[in-house]
Amino acid sequence: MEQKKIAFIGAGNMSRSIISGLAAQHYPASLIMASNPSQGKLDTLQQDFGILTSNNNDEAIKWADVVILAVKPQLMQQVCQDIKESQFDDKLFITIAAGINSERYHDYFDQTIRLVRCMPNTPSLLGLGMSGLFAGNGVSQNDVQISEQIMRCVGEVLWVSDESHIDTVIACSGSSPAYFFLFMEYMQQSAIKMGLSGEEARLLIQQAALGAAQMVRHNGHLELSELRKQVTSKGGATHAAIESFKQDNLEQSIDNAMKSAVERAQEMAKQF
Ligand SMILES: NC(=O)c1ccc[n+]([C@@H]2O[C@H](COP(=O)([O-])OP(=O)(O)OC[C@H]3O[C@@H](n4cnc5c(N)ncnc54)[C@H](OP(=O)(O)O)[C@@H]3O)[C@@H](O)[C@H]2O)c1
Repeated sequence: MEQKKIAFIGAGNMSRSIISGLAAQHYPASLIMASNPSQGKLDTLQQDFGILTSNNNDEAIKWADVVILAVKPQLMQQVCQDIKESQFDDKLFITIAAGINSERYHDYFDQTIRLVRCMPNTPSLLGLGMSGLFAGNGVSQNDVQISEQIMRCVGEVLWVSDESHIDTVIACSGSSPAYFFLFMEYMQQSAIKMGLSGEEARLLIQQAALGAAQMVRHNGHLELSELRKQVTSKGGATHAAIESFKQDNLEQSIDNAMKSAVERAQEMAKQF
């Protein structure tokens, strides 16, 4: 992996998960700095990973080759405008904030920057993340490679060629852990009504979900519908459940939910 100085602006959950992923890949701690206003998170990161820390975003950005912007979206404008370092020609920026378009960052910094937009998801905390990436104007092939190497430390990556597709990434992988939690929650409620304890139901459901996801992963040559058909014998119990989902129009319900996520992401982008 190419070794650049990486600064994290904001030392919250997502920065911690990426730093943890970099550490697991033996990325040198002396090439990682986190900047955060409160000291507690910095101390923990310093203790756990031996990285450099700062309470000064300017200092971190000045030092870095790659800057990862990881503050909450509502703070981003202020954070960018407060940065006093004036020339960013030699730096690659990667933003993980939801809902702020590339154009906005050029406005915030009052100059064109080399920016990669990245939309990770919560399983990144376990190294099982899925990140959608978009390379803005001026981003070099080397920048693409570096961004990909960093985000691969916390899971899989997919590049989209159109920035608007980042909203589709939100619907597919950013928000979808919650869809799967909801699905499992409803299954658990139903199993409890049938007499199992919550714990028993959870074990059965979580392991089935994990196994199903692994089967999808390991059978890339098979369509999802084909995998389903392989475990659905005509006239059997699974078939009865699938028919019930179809009668209740689960397909439409999921389509509506995905569109709602995209529409909300588009609306939120207008706030910034
Ligand atoms: N978590 C996810 O699963 C996920 C998924 C996709 C995208 N994201 C995006 O990732 C970004 C970070 O999310 P997160 O979950 O890591 O949030 P978080 O845990 O709240 O971390 C944000 C950090 O930013 C720090 N901060 C506040 N003001 C700052 C400033 N002026 N300069 C530098 N740092 C500052 C906060 O410090 P204090 O706590 O000391 O105020 C906090 O440590 C967000 O934009 C979010 O939309 C997160």
